[in-house]
Amino acid sequence: MNSLDQIVIQAQADFAEAEDAAALENAKAKYLGKTGQITEQMKGLGKLAPEDRKVQGAIINVAKEKIEAALNARREALADAQMQARLNAEAIDVTLPGRGRSKGGIHPVMRTWERIEAIFRSVGFDVADGPEIENDWTNFTALNSPENHPARSMQDTFYIEGNDTQGKPLLLRTHTSPMQVRYARMHKPPIKVIAPGRTYRVDSDATHSPMFHQVEGLWIDENISFADLKGVYLNFVQAFFETDDLQVRFRPSYFPFTEPSAEIDIVFGSGPLKGRWLEVSGAGQVHPTVVRNFGLDPEKYIGFAFGSGLERLTMLRYGINDLRLFYEGDLRFLKQFN
Ligand code: DAH
Repeated sequence: MNSLDQIVIQAQADFAEAEDAAALENAKAKYLGKTGQITEQMKGLGKLAPEDRKVQGAIINVAKEKIEAALNARREALADAQMQARLNAEAIDVTLPGRGRSKGGIHPVMRTWERIEAIFRSVGFDVADGPEIENDWTNFTALNSPENHPARSMQDTFYIEGNDTQGKPLLLRTHTSPMQVRYARMHKPPIKVIAPGRTYRVDSDATHSPMFHQVEGLWIDENISFADLKGVYLNFVQAFFETDDLQVRFRPSYFPFTEPSAEIDIVFGSGPLKGRWLEVSGAGQVHPTVVRNFGLDPEKYIGFAFGSGLERLTMLRYGINDLRLFYEGDLRFLKQFN
């Protein structure tokens, strides 16, 4: 084998070994570059006699073409391999099922919240919203809760570090009742409002969650009585439970912010809960001290307030026996309400 044949074989081997375009171009320079082996052979032709030059030139050209052919073949192979790698990396499996779009649903407690707003709006109540972080004046003091009332203790209330801008302790509101004070201080009578929202207490069992929901109701004017409270509340529960076959009763109770105070119980005349008195709300005639804290004259203004638990109402409506189910985020439970 002459040396040109060896150069061709070596070039083919070098090209085959080149793993990428850059390595291949380096290998090419060894043979076809300015000082490459084929180029050097060409340069040597000048020293030959004219007739030898022609013969030898043709032989070198054949070798050069073989090298170029090998080079191009390798270039194409590398380009193909690169394209294949990209296709594999970017492949979309068209046989996979689509992701789809599952429909969101409304949480049962939120559904109750919305229903309550609609029912009270329909009888002329405004709907108000207020802060979940309260100061202890609005949450307790203004509502006539004495300094040593057990509800103010750390066992019952989530306190927050630091004070508000007036130096009053901060806490997560333990009920929606502070909204009575906030709303009444910003509106002139007649005051007729509900305030649904989140409330917080250090409490957790089958019927208590540290975060829960209440709706506060307040109606203040010059001549609002317990009869109005009974009418409004009966209308509400009958609309909420979608039955007229339902009665309410008032049971004497105690709240610092009402006098007299009552628990409201309801009883169904039919259905699975038939005949059982069920407690659904606290209520009462707003205490004169609280009316004064509204910035109103208790000699002139009088009215009622109530506070009901949204979880409780939701549980009664759907027959749910464990309040914790609302907050476990289990779709098997939640989907039943949509
Ligand atoms: N705030 C009371 C509670 O959380 C509920 C309540 C009772 C609200 C009587 C009222 C009311 O407005 O008059 O237990």
